Amino acid sequence: MQQAPIKSWEIYRESTRYLAQGSSTSSKAPAIEDVEPALIVRGSGCRVWDADGNEYIDYRNALGPVTLGYAVPEINEAVSAQLENGIIFGHPHPLEGEVAKLLVETIPCAERVRFLKTGGEALAACAKIARHATRRNKILHCGYNGWLNSLNPGGYRPVGVASAEPTKGVPAAIAELHPSLPWGDLDPWEAAFHDDGDDIAAVMIASAYADLDKGREFLPALRKLSEAHGALMVMDEIVMGFRLAIGGAHEYFDFMPDMAVFGKGMANGMPISAYLGRADLIDSARDLGISSTFGGETLSLAAAKAVAEFYENRRVITHLWETGRALWGAVNHLFESKGVAARFQGYGVCPQLVADGDWAIQFMCACYQQGVSFYHVSYVNYSHKPSDVEDTIVRVERTLDSM
Ligand SMILES: Cc1ncc(COP(=O)(O)O)c(C=O)c1O
Repeated sequence: MQQAPIKSWEIYRESTRYLAQGSSTSSKAPAIEDVEPALIVRGSGCRVWDADGNEYIDYRNALGPVTLGYAVPEINEAVSAQLENGIIFGHPHPLEGEVAKLLVETIPCAERVRFLKTGGEALAACAKIARHATRRNKILHCGYNGWLNSLNPGGYRPVGVASAEPTKGVPAAIAELHPSLPWGDLDPWEAAFHDDGDDIAAVMIASAYADLDKGREFLPALRKLSEAHGALMVMDEIVMGFRLAIGGAHEYFDFMPDMAVFGKGMANGMPISAYLGRADLIDSARDLGISSTFGGETLSLAAAKAVAEFYENRRVITHLWETGRALWGAVNHLFESKGVAARFQGYGVCPQLVADGDWAIQFMCACYQQGVSFYHVSYVNYSHKPSDVEDTIVRVERTLDSM
């Protein structure tokens, strides 16, 4: 049983006087008062510590980026070695081309690559490229595509949840160019192309966690549909890249989008994203004013290079699949055996907790008290070893018994 995270909450509450929401990432702001670890001060492997010194086996993984573990020596060493030589320069650094080459060699749709810092801005780059290439206006979204979703009617929403409410802070004429369509059902997409096919520049797709298996048929069918109507397909692989497969959903389900965007898992937490795909499209970024001062920042590139080598040498993807299958299978078995109507649903590398909303919050609360940190979508990383999985299962059983 953990101590109440009193100090963490004191510091957090004080910070909200200066820092809006107490967090620059909305979904990281703690919601469960006085129980959730409001602040994390340190991480190592698969564990994190709050400001009160409580230790948690962590399945949040920074909401996706940490695929290898916290403070992994090989990645830390690569970043430290580069730090000795400077962070960023007034000309490109060789690492920029080297990491681009590694991505071209490993990601199926990548002929050409360019770097930015976040998933949202890389997706914005793809939208601009697609509009220019097709001379059309509309982007059909599926799931959460980063801040770009704030252009949709309804704005921000979790992956796979459609909404038609008006968008705050976006002129209606712009919101109309960003319809959001559901995952897994081709009919609304066919209808959209039937009604408006001449003005659809691209479909921009983030895979849904709980129903990921629908991607097997849905994604290749959407590829054919968009191609038939002269629209581009942009895969948002921000979460699925370096997790489902290195090349994300398009590698795993075996189809070829025109462009794709990677971020989170590429550098084990260092801030970098890549938009990549057909050479003619990515090359056009130069003429479209898509550019950022920090695109070639070398600490993140050094981390990305070390991560690519780590994946190649250590069978990371296999480890994520095997560990995920073992953990969520056992947790789902516990839910069943205790008569709880909940499941971690989807693929083991990124399942979603499907349960009554209030119960899910209570469950996560009780898990924090047993030293396990889950989220609605929970992730295993390379540092979760069989003993951590066993430890987690024991704690989850204790949690369920305590509820
Ligand atoms: C599927 C998906 N796409 C895009 C993004 C946006 O990435 P970023 O937060 O780096 O802008 C996210 C972030 O959670 C995401 O989950």
